Amino acid sequence: DTDHFTYDPGFTSTGSCESKISFIDGDKGILQHRGYSIEDLAENCDFMEVAYLLLKGELPNMEEKSKFENDITMHTMVHEQLHKFFDGFRRDAHPMAIMVGVVGALSAFYHDSLDINDPHHRMVSSYRLIAKMPTIAAWAYKYSVGQPFMYPRNDLRYAEDFLHMMFATPCEEYKVNPVLAKAMDRILILHADHEQNASTSTVRLAGSSGANPFACIAAGIACLWGPAHGGANEAVLNMLQEIGTADRVGEFVAKAKDKNDPFRLMGFGHRVYKNFDPRAKIMAKTCHEVLGELGIKDEPLLDIAMQLEKIALEDDYFIEKKLYPNVDFYSGIILKAMGIPTSMFTVLFALARTTGWIAQWQEMIEDPSQRIGRPRQLYTGDVDRKFVPLHQR
Ligand code: SDX
Repeated sequence: DTDHFTYDPGFTSTGSCESKISFIDGDKGILQHRGYSIEDLAENCDFMEVAYLLLKGELPNMEEKSKFENDITMHTMVHEQLHKFFDGFRRDAHPMAIMVGVVGALSAFYHDSLDINDPHHRMVSSYRLIAKMPTIAAWAYKYSVGQPFMYPRNDLRYAEDFLHMMFATPCEEYKVNPVLAKAMDRILILHADHEQNASTSTVRLAGSSGANPFACIAAGIACLWGPAHGGANEAVLNMLQEIGTADRVGEFVAKAKDKNDPFRLMGFGHRVYKNFDPRAKIMAKTCHEVLGELGIKDEPLLDIAMQLEKIALEDDYFIEKKLYPNVDFYSGIILKAMGIPTSMFTVLFALARTTGWIAQWQEMIEDPSQRIGRPRQLYTGDVDRKFVPLHQR
């Protein structure tokens, strides 16, 4: 209670919400989507199955999965005029800047005829976003390397089609390595949804005003870009390259512990997980599998990452602060092995998280008690000041 207003301690921020989509137990390192463990889903499903589960609440049977995949495939092309948006960017523009701009622009192509209060229109918008993200993401990469855009192919599955659009050229047939397609599928699953993280909350807050889903997803992409959030996967690779050799790890761990040094160990820590991030364990396992299957025996960055994890997990500071590797710690090493440039890492996170964002947006819109989000504040500034005219100041 201050002199000027009574702060209602029972007032809940409109940032909190109820949801049936993802459950996290930060102390036990549990992540479940619609009640299924991330371990079971990552081991036994492909990304389209998990996308269906997040959107509809149930795992699909064979017929439902086939129809869903076909529906998504039928939306992978984008309006031809969208090409023009890329030309407005400098070639060295960060791909996340392109994603924010082009995905936001989808509002001008696909939303004017849609009513978000119509369930069928919501489903069409959701499918369009899930389907078109790989195309736009791959084109952001192609634009940065000055190569022609590759169109989606209806005979390729989601992750495979994305890698084809990333690395194929019109000059010759390109066969996607099945090892890479499977790894990409796993990475997409591990990034698909994660309860009310910063970017998901951004999508929900934007959507609570009735903004169209394309604009809401663009807002989520903007938030995800931050290095404290989705931008961490790119920052981890840059950090590992800056460390350079395993024998310099101790020096950087000391920097991370120095309160006067703004340096933080990227890929470590989490707002919720205070034991371990289950996704990090699966990502580490996938990393070793992919490097092994690709015959990459000597990846210096992996040696540095493993040394960093070992030292940090034995260090009293990190133990006391409950800092463990998060989903971003190993993902970049796999993506680098797949030939994906560091600047595209967060784009991949956004590509995967679009399914979670849109499932959460749908859940919010369909909640009859939903009202516009309006977080409040505890005002700590001056009040009732006496005004002094300019000529007397
Ligand atoms: C993601 O919310 C989600 O679910 C996000 C995400 C998702 O799927 O959507 O999981 C994806 O964003 C994962 C996080 C990726 N970010 C990073 O890896 C960047 C590095 N990590 C940090 O910046 C940090 O850990 C955060 C941002 C993740 C969490 O920030 P907090 O809440 O400030 O960290 P904390 O409460 O865990 O901090 C406890 C203490 C603090 O010290 P004190 O203020 O108590 O003295 O540990 C310190 C922090 O300063 N600390 C670190 C650290 N992370 C926290 N010190 C060194 N290195 C770090 N990485």
